[in-house]
Amino acid sequence: MTTLASDSLDIRHVSKRYAQRGAPLAVLDDVSLHVRAGEFVTIVGASGCGKSTLLRLIAGLETDYAGEIRAGDAVVRDTSLQRGIVFQDHRLFPWLTVAQNVEAALRNAPLDAAAKRRAVAEHIALVGLNGFEHAYPNQLSGGMAQRVAIARGLVNRPRVLLLDEPFGALDAQTRARMQNELLRIWEQERITMVLVTHDVDEAVYLGDRVVTMAPRPGRIERIVDVTLPRPRRRDSAEFARLRDTVLAGFDDREPPGDTGGGNGTRIVAQDARRIGAWRLAW
Ligand SMILES: Nc1ncnc2c1ncn2[C@@H]1O[C@H](COP(=O)(O)OP(=O)(O)OP(=O)(O)O)[C@@H](O)[C@H]1O
Ligand SMILES: [Mg+2]
Repeated sequence: MTTLASDSLDIRHVSKRYAQRGAPLAVLDDVSLHVRAGEFVTIVGASGCGKSTLLRLIAGLETDYAGEIRAGDAVVRDTSLQRGIVFQDHRLFPWLTVAQNVEAALRNAPLDAAAKRRAVAEHIALVGLNGFEHAYPNQLSGGMAQRVAIARGLVNRPRVLLLDEPFGALDAQTRARMQNELLRIWEQERITMVLVTHDVDEAVYLGDRVVTMAPRPGRIERIVDVTLPRPRRRDSAEFARLRDTVLAGFDDREPPGDTGGGNGTRIVAQDARRIGAWRLAW
């Protein structure tokens, strides 16, 4: 599978406001980012800095913003099967089984019933949920539900995949396995990936570039190139250096007041360094 120019993303001077308690809240401020076709970009940043909002705009779920987003040459005006999204919360239909939830994403796909069934089975196996095809979401653990959501995001084989903290509810072992699976799919299909995470280690492990965002209003603070060859070793000195470079992008200053969003949380890069967890705590 080769990459096509249409798989690139061009985010140009995007600013977004929401109304909060009647007052406008600047959520994104002049965000510009070019994602090359086939590139793997990861985004980290404090809670409330607009990461999910940015993914929603790229997905075409919202079009009320200033600036422009292009997928290849086309301005994004709507959702597309070519751009898959895995939401931060799994958003499964509670009245559908695992298999039916994944199949629901294929509703508009140009496949016959047998091909749909095959694609569903293949993707359920991919996320390690064989045997749970007929389970309902309330019979799954949080991590299992998240894996169903990942299967649903992948089943259409989108050219651009937007992932919003897809591994947040997974145990460390499953998380590491899913990261490698995602890399395998990415390498095989040459999909363009944009993945949001709170985990700096994950951002460096997966990304060609790590974008750090700053809050209030949400903006891009810095972009770190990760030139390490894959497979990457998390215990290498170069990996540690890059992790520190990303963490250095977050200062330890408390954001000004809780003006909606962020839940009064703060970045504790220092603490993250101290406990060696490399996960930003909010
Ligand atoms: N539909 C909405 N209406 C009003 N405000 C919103 C809406 N969606 C998001 N916001 C606000 O926009 C800001 C950014 O929210 P967003 O969900 O994009 O943050 P985030 O970076 O994804 O945070 P987290 O890391 O906690 O997921 C927050 O202040 C939030 O309150
Ligand atoms: Mg979010």
